[in-house]
Amino acid sequence: MSEIRGSNILITGGASGIGRLMALEMAHQGGHLLLWDRNPETLETTCAEIEAATGKRPRGYVCDVSRRRDVYSLASTVLQEVGHVDILVNNAGIVSGNYLLDIPDEKIEATFAVNALAMFWLTKAFLPVMIRRGRGHVVTIASASSLIGVARLSDYAASKWAAMGFDESLRFELRRTAPFLCTTVVCPFFIDTGMFSGVRSRFPRLLPLLEPQAVAGRIVDAVRKDKARVVMPWIVRLIPLMRVLPVSVFDAIATYLGVNSSMDEFTGRGDGQ
Ligand SMILES: NC(=O)c1ccc[n+]([C@@H]2O[C@H](COP(=O)([O-])OP(=O)(O)OC[C@H]3O[C@@H](n4cnc5c(N)ncnc54)[C@H](OP(=O)(O)O)[C@@H]3O)[C@@H](O)[C@H]2O)c1
Repeated sequence: MSEIRGSNILITGGASGIGRLMALEMAHQGGHLLLWDRNPETLETTCAEIEAATGKRPRGYVCDVSRRRDVYSLASTVLQEVGHVDILVNNAGIVSGNYLLDIPDEKIEATFAVNALAMFWLTKAFLPVMIRRGRGHVVTIASASSLIGVARLSDYAASKWAAMGFDESLRFELRRTAPFLCTTVVCPFFIDTGMFSGVRSRFPRLLPLLEPQAVAGRIVDAVRKDKARVVMPWIVRLIPLMRVLPVSVFDAIATYLGVNSSMDEFTGRGDGQ
């Protein structure tokens, strides 16, 4: 069991979306929150909200996690200030949501830098102290699109497959080198946070848009119970099994289920993030 109460918990992208909700929940359970996000205003608002709700103010740090040097520099500041991180939640993420030829190169690079590479820098920064202390948990927020490609998500899905590969390889490495450490990877279908505004599910009973509070609660619960993998909703767990089928059948099922038209009406946050 990974204890939340009394633990130092760092969440990237902790100022909004499921990062904010996980922070609120973990603060309610007695965790000491360290929130990293790139926007000082939303960070301040969330820190104030958590303080009002729990009586304990998280430590907020402004950081663009796609900047490797900034991550390492802030990580050493954090380690000086609080000594160690017990639970690291690599959560910050962005999406372009366009056809490959319509995604500017810089956006593809940014997507990989935030969704995939940042977790390397964060984990490398905090893992040594976890190993030394014999205690720690690394959480990777991946996606259902870590398991299946989707039209208009080529950069996003590829970055999330990278996140999945990162988690699995790290898990195997830690079994050999530091078996007392835990990892959790999270693969949710679309969540109603605004990041994927406009997306549709053809069969909402089978593949509902997930409710952010419920997702955050499931993740916190999984961390407490040291679950290695969380996939939401349950039907998404069948995707790896479908891969034994011929590609033409796999593609036909995915298309029938609406996977490849789900992004047709995507608007996202409309902020060109
Ligand atoms: N929403 C979904 O449908 C869904 C489904 C599966 C997986 N996920 C994954 O779940 C995670 C959280 O998603 P969400 O829906 O909660 O998204 P969200 O509401 O957009 O929150 C993401 C947070 O990360 C921050 N962020 C983005 N780039 C950053 C950077 N370079 N440095 C520091 N912080 C940065 C954002 O800041 P700004 O507000 O400034 O952008 C925002 O506060 C992501 O990894 C996402 O890929 C989401």
